[in-house]
Amino acid sequence: MRVLVTGGAGYIGSHTVVQLLAAGHQVEVVDSFANAKASVVPRIEALTGSLLTVHAFDVCDRDKTEALLAGGAFEAVIHFAGFKAVGESVAEPLSYYDNNLDSTLSLVRAMNRHGVRRLVFSSSATVYGADPELPMREELPTSATNPYGWTKVMQEQILRDVAAADHSWRIGLLRYFNPVGAHPSGTMGEDPQGNPNNLVPFIAQVAVGRRERLAVFGGDYDTPDGTCLRDYIHVEDLAAGHVAALHRLQAMAEPVGVWNLGTGQGTSVLEMVAAFSRAVGRDLPYDIVERRAGDIAVSYADPSRAHAELGWRAVKSVDDMCADAWRWQSANPQGYPDA
Ligand code: WQD
Repeated sequence: MRVLVTGGAGYIGSHTVVQLLAAGHQVEVVDSFANAKASVVPRIEALTGSLLTVHAFDVCDRDKTEALLAGGAFEAVIHFAGFKAVGESVAEPLSYYDNNLDSTLSLVRAMNRHGVRRLVFSSSATVYGADPELPMREELPTSATNPYGWTKVMQEQILRDVAAADHSWRIGLLRYFNPVGAHPSGTMGEDPQGNPNNLVPFIAQVAVGRRERLAVFGGDYDTPDGTCLRDYIHVEDLAAGHVAALHRLQAMAEPVGVWNLGTGQGTSVLEMVAAFSRAVGRDLPYDIVERRAGDIAVSYADPSRAHAELGWRAVKSVDDMCADAWRWQSANPQGYPDA
């Protein structure tokens, strides 16, 4: 299929582009490069042996997005583009609502106008809110505890309403748990700008010497070792889930499908530190400090619907995640080069 990938230069987007190309799809990327480096493009091309067409603009720009959909003859879109930092969304709610909602409204409007009605949307387990029943199942109610999470809840609702008004749409809502890891080649990976908000990139930067020590946010939770449990999923498994969802859209009877992309297993912060230490071959320094506001103690998926309906399953282990993340970080201590 001819697939447009928005945010395709980003962490999950770039790994998904590689797998789409390997699966024989024709892919083009649109990315504003607000949260990605252009130097990822030659990495994708080297891994896939394909020349990648990249449209460098923000899909919030309605005229450019309209022109791209008008001329691209795309059959489907995978929509990653969006801001995704929880803390930043609390400090800058308007920029999150503007960017995340406008980008989706602009894209879907242009898709609809040009009869492109196959969409895979990057959602998040954050839509299960503050105190969800565990393991998290897709039929649970959605809510949020921060503006970023609300933008995901709202985007899911927008897409459901669009599909309810025109049943020719086929939309897959993919709820990610905690994406970590990197392409096994070590040439692509997670490259957060500034202070990493997330655990694994922070640990990786400690390991490579960019950060002194890891602060473990809370050691007094009601969990086996007192630290929070999360459902970490390898970015390669996550990318494979997008390819599977894209294929599923063709066969779907219903206009909208919702799937958790997780392993179904919870891993604690200290277990992740230990796994990363094994990958690096030495103990990594950390201090247990006070809890981070807004963290929930335990989060993990019930991935059975994705197994049954997408024929997809996460296969990589926490040790695979850490080994691949370390290979990327040690080969690219400063992340992607600027030029
Ligand atoms: C994981 C655990 C922290 C950093 C967030 C978003 C979610 C999704 C994934 C976008 C927690 C602990 C972390 C550190 C730590 N993003 N931690 N020290 O918060 O589960 O999920 O990222 O879709 O929407 O909410 O991920 O990696 O920030 O934290 O101890 O320096 O690691 O307290 O228990 P989180 P995380």
